[in-house]
Amino acid sequence: MATLLFTFLFVVLAACAIAAPISEEKRGGIGSDLLGTFNLMEQYAGASYCSNNYQSAGDKVTCPSKTCPLVEAANTTSLIEYQIITSTDVTGYVAVDHTNSLVVVAFRGSSSVKNWFTNLDFKLTNTDLCDGCTAHNGFWQSWVDSRDDILGAIKNYKTAYPGYKLVSTGHSLGGAIATLSAAQLRHDGYDVALYTFGAPRIAGTKLSSYITNQPGGNYRVTHWNDPVPNLPPIAMGFVHVSPEYYINKPNLQTVGASDIKTYSGSINLGGNTRWVVTDVGAHLWYFNSIAQCAVNSIIG
Ligand SMILES: *[C@@H]1O[C@H](CO)[C@@H](O)[C@H](O)[C@H]1NC(C)=O
Repeated sequence: MATLLFTFLFVVLAACAIAAPISEEKRGGIGSDLLGTFNLMEQYAGASYCSNNYQSAGDKVTCPSKTCPLVEAANTTSLIEYQIITSTDVTGYVAVDHTNSLVVVAFRGSSSVKNWFTNLDFKLTNTDLCDGCTAHNGFWQSWVDSRDDILGAIKNYKTAYPGYKLVSTGHSLGGAIATLSAAQLRHDGYDVALYTFGAPRIAGTKLSSYITNQPGGNYRVTHWNDPVPNLPPIAMGFVHVSPEYYINKPNLQTVGASDIKTYSGSINLGGNTRWVVTDVGAHLWYFNSIAQCAVNSIIG
């Protein structure tokens, strides 16, 4: 009897969790300015897979894979580059872009980007961001490992680069860490715009809505039937930061502004979550071959 009641309650609660959040779609795509920004941010995220951008600071951000022409066209210098292999292997760089007036905090995804998520655990841990705000344990630990270096790099950016905008970006695992980075930096008083590509869910309801409601701009980009944004599962207590910018276009195609649909809600079934049959290929194609540097290093 107790088991039956529990099962019944679980089904009712699960149904409420799916039905309750508002899901709305803005038709007609995004503006061309935002598309341009997405292209640039995607290339900054992709550049973090190239080892020349996470091994020695003070040089220009470049991609031997030829997948970041917009970044290479800009006048850039990295302020820090790091790979913290002792603990979580969090890897990335902070760079200043004088052409676009940006300070870019970029996080690399897993170097074995094709299969890292098959080992994803579902453990939530407390963060110090807000009361009761839990996050995925591994993602949070990655941020904690890189936090001091990044805070040190950006500490004086407002006086060093007046008028520059602070942005946080990453693909896949890198997008998860970028989200926690933006959350913490905003919490500490910085203005940060967040751009993620194919990021998994990173937190429970409290922290996700905390981030959704922070000012600065949350741009969570998903693509077609990419499996990663559907992990870890909603049933394990994970939800997304809102809104979602869903690229409604198959792999290997050029993305236009009208191909990107906006959906809101911590759970929405309109964008990437609609897919039942998924494809890792869609995880690797965000405007271009986003992890090409990691793919190259595995092949050769
Ligand atoms: C890049 O920008 C810096 C800072 O404005 C400037 O000092 C430098 O000359 C620029 N480099 C090039 C190659 O334009």
